[in-house]
Amino acid sequence: MSVIDKSEKKVLMISGVVIALFIFSMLYAKDQYNSNVPECVPFDKAYTEPKVVQLDEKTYQVFSVASMWQFEPAEIYVPVGSEVDFFLSSKDVVHGFNIAEKNVNMMAVYGNINKTTVKFDKKGVYKITCHEYCGVGHQNMQAEVIVHEPQSK
Ligand code: CUA
Repeated sequence: MSVIDKSEKKVLMISGVVIALFIFSMLYAKDQYNSNVPECVPFDKAYTEPKVVQLDEKTYQVFSVASMWQFEPAEIYVPVGSEVDFFLSSKDVVHGFNIAEKNVNMMAVYGNINKTTVKFDKKGVYKITCHEYCGVGHQNMQAEVIVHEPQSK
């Protein structure tokens, strides 16, 4: 017979419940707030050249490169309903990449590529801001995603 103290059993049970709750709340949040967990992509130099690539009518890839103190490309035009994969890298120090309205929160790290996918269902201008202090120009470091009606730009 194994000997587990009663109080120990209790602690194990409680830990189990807390962990289950934690996992549940993460999955719940992922669903409810449509928050995409950023992925790490194997480093490839090809990702560090700023560009916007259109894959089909409503699918885009944005290769966003952060540096002191800008994001390139600074203006990204996509039509309403687009799904955009952001591949983020940095040329120098660590920068942040935040799209507040879209719950996007990533880090731009030299030598790394971080990826997330965002769907833009509504027309408007979505600010991308650096939210990691990166030097004197930090507060001016931003870019925008301009989501327009399909025909206009
Ligand atoms: Cu880049 Cu702060």
